[in-house]
Amino acid sequence: MAQNGVLVAPSIMCADLCNLESDIKVLESVGVDFLHFDLMDAHFVPNMPIGLELLSQLRPKTDCPYDVHLMVEDNDFFVSKLSEIGVQQIAVHAESALHLDRTLSLIRDYGIKAGLALNPATPITAINYVLDRIDYILIMTVNPGFSGQSMVPSALQKIADCQAFLQQRDVYLPIEVDGNVSFENIPKMVGAGANILVAGSSSIFNQHGSRPENAERVREAISQGLQIRNPHG
Ligand code: DX5
Ligand code: ZN
Repeated sequence: MAQNGVLVAPSIMCADLCNLESDIKVLESVGVDFLHFDLMDAHFVPNMPIGLELLSQLRPKTDCPYDVHLMVEDNDFFVSKLSEIGVQQIAVHAESALHLDRTLSLIRDYGIKAGLALNPATPITAINYVLDRIDYILIMTVNPGFSGQSMVPSALQKIADCQAFLQQRDVYLPIEVDGNVSFENIPKMVGAGANILVAGSSSIFNQHGSRPENAERVREAISQGLQIRNPHG
């Protein structure tokens, strides 16, 4: 689904978990770029939709890259287990990592791309001293833990601020956005600078359309966003 560098990562906690293998085949058929897995420990966030065993059992059934979003207290434990499963990128929350620099380095030591996840209220300056330790930034556009929420009002400005923060330092890092990445919000998010879209219940898994229909609407929304970003083409 990649369009001018904008990638789509369906949020698997929003998938049909009772028929997940077949749902993932459909997602592969519409050309998604990653599978986004939200791993929660019911401590850092009060939820636990999926676990390590699911990722492990799915691994041999799909070649799709794993985009893992850790919302846990013991990040290093999960990073170690995920390295055994075989994942392509892991984002850890600045708010949960006791030793963030060390954890980001640990992820990279396993040959996995390291991402920094920021809750809506966390300033962009949290990136400051780990800019050389990260491969992408995950901006939470909802408060983490649950699907089906509405984007927080400050989210679009924060995406633009993050883009400006990187440009001022002449640094290019993908900005991933996660939470209410809807058909309506995608143009604004892409327009503000988002490059990886975690598509959940308000887009690719929208109840009112099939996965192919929803994927087409996502593509259209991305095109609108690219138009906003580069009005002169
Ligand atoms: C929430 C997760 C998201 C969530 C997105 O903590 O990180 O990936 O599943 O769900 P929607 O798209 O419904 O907001
Ligand atoms: Zn997520």
